[in-house]
This record gives sequence, structure tokens and C-alpha cells, in this order.
Amino acid sequence: MKNPIESQLAENPLYLKMKERSDADKPPSRSNPLGAVAHARGPATQSRAELLNHIRDQDKDLKLGYFGAIRYKPVSVCGLELKLEPLHPSIGTIVHGIDLNRDLESPEVVGFLRALWLERRVIGFREQQHMTQNDMVRFAQRFGEVGEQFGESEHRPNSPHDINQQIKVPNIPNMLVLPSDENVPSAASGWHCDATWQPKPPMGSILMCREAPPIGGDTCFCDCYAMWEGLPLKVKKRVEFLRAVHVGSVGHQMDGKTPSAVHPVARTHPETGRTTLYVQQGFVQRFAVEHEISEEEQSELLHVMKMQEGRPEYTCRFRWEEGSIAMWDNRAVLHTASGDFWPHRRLMERLTILDRERDRRAPYYAPDAQQSPETVANS
Ligand SMILES: [Fe+2]
Repeated sequence: MKNPIESQLAENPLYLKMKERSDADKPPSRSNPLGAVAHARGPATQSRAELLNHIRDQDKDLKLGYFGAIRYKPVSVCGLELKLEPLHPSIGTIVHGIDLNRDLESPEVVGFLRALWLERRVIGFREQQHMTQNDMVRFAQRFGEVGEQFGESEHRPNSPHDINQQIKVPNIPNMLVLPSDENVPSAASGWHCDATWQPKPPMGSILMCREAPPIGGDTCFCDCYAMWEGLPLKVKKRVEFLRAVHVGSVGHQMDGKTPSAVHPVARTHPETGRTTLYVQQGFVQRFAVEHEISEEEQSELLHVMKMQEGRPEYTCRFRWEEGSIAMWDNRAVLHTASGDFWPHRRLMERLTILDRERDRRAPYYAPDAQQSPETVANS
């Protein structure tokens, strides 16, 4: 498969910098997980070529196969015999036995998948490589309005520091292409929900794997209900009505300005009514200034909240194969790419989904008396 990096990024300064590094026979920097894992795997060397060849040699005989027993729940929906494979007790289910091009004509099937998605917050599918990019758009439209690359149309980053935005898909400008290869390694490593640096972040995201590394490059998801439930009671009571500032990265700049947005720390899921902890290492830097929280207390509270991210008990991993799709609820799970697969290639395509009900798009907190920290503590 031709890598879209080659033809479309020839003038991009970030691309040229990374290419310069590889041309100089330097491996990825250890400050990037892709580099750290590569150095952990390889011999002690500063030679990019030596490290790359060592890793490729280790991985060259890997085959795709299926072994052992997995637990699944058989269900019958409109004549489809589905197998639901849970990835984790609370989040993530792979739906086997469905063709997303062929089997979604029935509103009942779509309704079933949407209910499953709300409950499990991440649903995955295998062997959908026959779906074109236009098919993906049609699939996304069954669950909401297809957003732009980063959701709402007023948030259209144009930063040269994110090479993915420069790759254009003819006729589908909303699609974000996420390539990585030996010369330009890239993975969104770091827990986040997509585009929370804007006032109305996208409801959901869909990722299609066009090319998977032979090992590594999983996407991990973290349960934001569990993150809230697991906070110490005194912290919950302290932060429940606070708001936090979400700041984009340099790659999200619009006309040179870094976007930011203020969101509630405790967020009510607009469809399930559950409370999520809506604070992520990726974008949250501080509490809103009107709270007048001291630096010391702020760093302590942010630390306690961030320690909830990525706990194994709250987290599942989705392993990619060519043709795998994951669709997740950005309101209720965090995600991160596992940046561990250099020098292998990985090519993903992403769409965002916006809530059709526009008044539910901006995060809010509407505490239900039955779910307040006080009530829970007394129950
Ligand atoms: Fe993301």
C-alpha cells in the first residue's frame, strides 16, 4: 500500500525534520514511546538501521492466527447470529458475525448496536476491510452527524505541526488519516478524549485500520465512570462542581492560536445520566480561574485525578488487524494509542461523530440527588 505521507507532505516542516532524523541514521527519540520501546527491544546502539533491522528480524515470522478459548455471549438480532466478545468487565465489546455494509439496513440492528455502544462505550468489529472510505461515512451517519476532522466545523485546525491534517482524502475532507512508518513514526500516545479543547467535543470517534503492525500499536481505552467512582470521597466532594481548562497542543492551532475550552470536572453523560470524571492528562492543565484554587491544592487534586487514568482495572486494549474498526464514546472513555510498534507501518482512518441533538453537545454537569457523593457515601 502506498503511504500517503510520501506524496502529500514533501513540504511540511515537521515531516522534513523527522525525515532528516531518519536520513541521519538516528532512531526515534527516547522521549517518544515509539523510541523508548524500540531501544528497550534492541541492542545498545545509536544506529537507526541496526535497531530497525534487529526489530524487523524479531518480528518477521509473526503470523496472524486464533488460538484458545474466548468467552462470548451469543445473541440473535433480526436473524443475525452475533457473538459478543467482552474485552473487559465494564468497557469494550467486539461484535463478531456482522458485515457493516450489508447488515445495517434494519433500524433494529442499528438500535441494538447503539444500545450496546452506550453500555460498553467501545464496540469493535473485525474483517471489514471491504468497506471503502465512503462506506465508513455511511456507517458513521447511522449513529450521528459526521463531524469534521476534529468535530465541529468552527474548529478546523490548520497547524503545520500535525502532519496528519495535511493528508487529504479526495471527496472526504472530514476523514483524518493517521499514518506511521519507519521514517515518520507517529502515534497519539497519551490518555485523552478527542478534541476536548473545543467547547463541543465530538460525541464519538470511529477508527478503521487499513494497515496493522505485526505486533503492537493497540488502542487502549479507560472507563471514565470507574475513574469517577474510584476517586476518594473527599476529592469527589471538592471537585464535583469545579471546571477545568482543556488546552489543545501546537498541532491543534488555528491560525497560530492554541485553542482551549472550559469543561466541568464531573460530567453527566447526556444519554445514560451517569457521572464521568472528565479530566485527562492529554489536555487538562488547570482549574478554571474563578475557583481561585491555590497552586498547591490544584497540583494535588490534578495528581489524584490523573492517577485514575490507565489503571489496569479500568482499561481494555483493542488489538488491530487490517479491516478492524473501533467506535467509541468520547463522553465516557479515554483512549490512547500504544506507541510501541516502530519501525512497523500502521495506517488508520478516523471519523468523528456529533450528537444529532445539538443541545447535548456541550459537556455539562447535572447532579442527580441519587448519585451525589453524599448519597453514595451514605448508601
Ligand atoms: Fe484520539
